[in-house]
Amino acid sequence: MASGHANGSQSPQGRASMQRTTFREMVHQAFQGAIERAFPDLPNQQAVVAPTGNPKIADYQCNNAMIISGRLPQPPKEKPAPAENGQEKPKLSKAEQKKLKAAEQEARNKLQNKVAQQIIDALPESLPMIAGRPATAGGAFINMRVDTAWMGQVVQSMLVEGIDKWAPRLPHKRAVIDFSSPNVAKEMHVGHLRSTILGDTLARTLEYCGLEVVRLNHVGDWGTQFGMLIQYIAESRPGGINDTNIEHEDLGQLQALYKKSKERFDADPEFKERAKAAVGRLQGGDAECLQAWQRICKASRQAFQAVYDRLGVKLEERGESFYNPFLASLVEELAGQGIIEDSNGAKVVWVEGQENPLIVQKADGAFLYGTTDLAAIRHRLQTEKGDWLIYVTDLGQAGHFDLVFGSAKKAGFILPKDDPGHPRIDHVGFGLVLGADGKRIRTRSGGDNVRLSELLDEAKERCQTTIKDRREDIGEEELDMASSAMGYGAIKYADLKNHRTTNYKFDFDAMCDLKGNTAVYLLYAHARIASIVRKADRPEVSDGSLAKSASIDLEHPAEVALALHLIRFPEALEDMLEDLTPNRLTEYLYILSDKFNTFYTNCHVIGEAQEDSRLLLVQSVAVVMRQCFHLLGLTPLYRI
Ligand code: ARG
Repeated sequence: MASGHANGSQSPQGRASMQRTTFREMVHQAFQGAIERAFPDLPNQQAVVAPTGNPKIADYQCNNAMIISGRLPQPPKEKPAPAENGQEKPKLSKAEQKKLKAAEQEARNKLQNKVAQQIIDALPESLPMIAGRPATAGGAFINMRVDTAWMGQVVQSMLVEGIDKWAPRLPHKRAVIDFSSPNVAKEMHVGHLRSTILGDTLARTLEYCGLEVVRLNHVGDWGTQFGMLIQYIAESRPGGINDTNIEHEDLGQLQALYKKSKERFDADPEFKERAKAAVGRLQGGDAECLQAWQRICKASRQAFQAVYDRLGVKLEERGESFYNPFLASLVEELAGQGIIEDSNGAKVVWVEGQENPLIVQKADGAFLYGTTDLAAIRHRLQTEKGDWLIYVTDLGQAGHFDLVFGSAKKAGFILPKDDPGHPRIDHVGFGLVLGADGKRIRTRSGGDNVRLSELLDEAKERCQTTIKDRREDIGEEELDMASSAMGYGAIKYADLKNHRTTNYKFDFDAMCDLKGNTAVYLLYAHARIASIVRKADRPEVSDGSLAKSASIDLEHPAEVALALHLIRFPEALEDMLEDLTPNRLTEYLYILSDKFNTFYTNCHVIGEAQEDSRLLLVQSVAVVMRQCFHLLGLTPLYRI
């Protein structure tokens, strides 16, 4: 498996220059040039080349002739004979009108076809990726088929050179992705799970594309609630503020502590005052308060880390507290720039087009969530030198990020569009996770909060049963490994396959289904493919020497369709990165396994004259599948 990623070992530019041009890009370039040569007087004609909906006609089509012919001087309309000296125009009969219309239509068709022909004639002589010459079927569309010999070579070169060469080229160098980001002393909820899964896939994909990726966990570890917690601990625990047992508390216990302290805070005005004083001491650097705060953070961190470990997600903790030292001077600076206004004693920044301002400091002097985000965006741009910032949170925070990005622009942290240092910044918003009944999600233990660890446990248990049913002889260790891979994979895939902005139902039955569009199905599909290669028992396949000696000859339509889908892998990734929607990748993967099934039903592999070629094709399917798994955070299985 190609899992070694050239992270850091090579400059992103170095990687990019090694990456191969996709079919789509090659054809696009050829047509762009042809259009410019054939119609030099029509500026800004973007070549439009896309896969066809109907593979019986062609693999790809170019439809520029339609647009271009509309912009050219039109052929004279067939006019009825002019009316004589002021008399009424003679009315046309229905039949005559019809004839006239048909004649006009024909003239249009002719022109469109002529334009299409002109584009074809202006294409370069040599188009190795296309079978024969692109041609029209008499109309405006230019049809083409991918050359099968060329396609076979591309697939084969992937086996020889590695799948890293198929990563899309991106203009960015360093991405900073803010994801997961749960809150200290609170249960990590399903929204945080969704952020973790989405963010990890985006991070993995950008890493694959050769970017340096900083994966930041912007945990909520600062704010007035800590004064409340610390004061409550000081007053209710046997050890008082110095109670070290806090450090070993699990999230459920911490959450209960949080709840009780909040109740007290709301009900008891004197406690409220003492809690406020504790915030002051904490911010002033009081050692006891700081230690109590650190114990709470440590306990939460351990619980979060346990989830990340199970999911195989890497994150660097850089919580809100990290930015605390920058807040006061930041607000001063903004005031100096004249972009701060007063609103009932609070300091705010207005952003054009937004109904409310971003509050950066309350009347009582406290800083807020948004102040921290403003300091954070500046740090990520100016210190981290990120040229692509990504924030993965629920859609409910979209308004907050509009304000943060707008304020950062106003403050000059985000350079304008025409500046070469202009960064790409995305808020990747997502919808809700609901229970299978469409209501709020619950776990078996019930209660107010879903424990993420319980969700993970249940998915794993269910997969354990599935695996045991099919392989009674499986050993303990392998069973544990496989059921983790399948169970956690099922949860991740069920999340990623939905468009991120939709609400989806967390449904164990659906996500663990062996036959649906699930990770379970796909992991088994991969294991089946791996078993074909095993059965062939040809060491030349696994050691890579067959890929250097034999060639992939695509003959059967199912082979051609499969290879065509394989070479579209980078295109699927480009599409996914355009609007940061991993469901485009899951869709790609699901179709890949479908095309493989059609191939395998129609084409025997072992013992056939085409064995070498087909084994290589099978092997490349497995490689691409594993790369998809890697990007989706799934661990491949090799045996059923
Ligand atoms: N802690 C926040 C929450 O649970 C998410 C933080 C997202 N990141 C950020 N930079 N604001 O909703």
